[in-house]
Amino acid sequence: MLTKEVITHIEKSSLAESLAVIASVYPDETVFSSSLGQEDQVITDAIFSTSLPIKVFTIDTGRVFNETYELLEKTNARYKRSIKVYFPDAADVEEFVHSKGINSFYESVDNRKECCYIRKVKPLNRALEGAKVWITGLRSEQSTNRNNMPLIEWDEKKELYKFNPLINWSYSEVIGYLKKNDVPNNSLHEQGFISIGCSPCTRAIEPGEDARAGRWWWESSKKECGLHL
Ligand code: ADX
Ligand code: SF4
Repeated sequence: MLTKEVITHIEKSSLAESLAVIASVYPDETVFSSSLGQEDQVITDAIFSTSLPIKVFTIDTGRVFNETYELLEKTNARYKRSIKVYFPDAADVEEFVHSKGINSFYESVDNRKECCYIRKVKPLNRALEGAKVWITGLRSEQSTNRNNMPLIEWDEKKELYKFNPLINWSYSEVIGYLKKNDVPNNSLHEQGFISIGCSPCTRAIEPGEDARAGRWWWESSKKECGLHL
């Protein structure tokens, strides 16, 4: 259990120290979900550089950019590790595509949420089986939904601790860390992509636009895929 004392200690610790503390309390029961985004690359670097017993995984929805696959390979090569890749259930995808259409997410928010549920949320739940701590790369600045997220919280539904070590980091701190440690980055960031998800649902943003404006840009919904509700 993460006692009050442990949580207070983590609140005052650096990224590396906080990850080490969590991993020492729950070795091999701590997992990190990475979309290979900039925040996630910071955490991956911190975990792999110190060989912590934390499983790093990513969900391949089947619709991600080739640049994201390139980054996956580069990252594995750099740290001599293998980020575990989870895929959606093939029968779920087949049924959804057959009944609704391959790009039906553009037609309605319901279709989009169903696609995200099948391709992201269900594989996430599988990846989290048996875990006591789930680490994410969420930052509070990213969206209103993330504004009030705590550093660590007990997730009643999933029955695990959700740990967001970068929740209070600014975007420039993320970039500073990546540069300082020469962490591999998605080449799409140089083309105006900031927050990157699936290829049909992500576009580059214009100067001055919100970082998440390029995600599900045709929707006026809350722009969450359901991983963090
Ligand atoms: S999303 O909900 O809009 O898709 P976002 O891209 O901001 O999420 O990423 C927030 C966090 O969700 C990441 O730091 C990561 O922990 C997790 N996440 C998002 N997409 C994936 C993915 N494909 N695989 C693993 N984790 C993911
Ligand atoms: Fe489907 Fe788009 Fe969600 Fe990816 S982001 S799972 S393609 S709706």
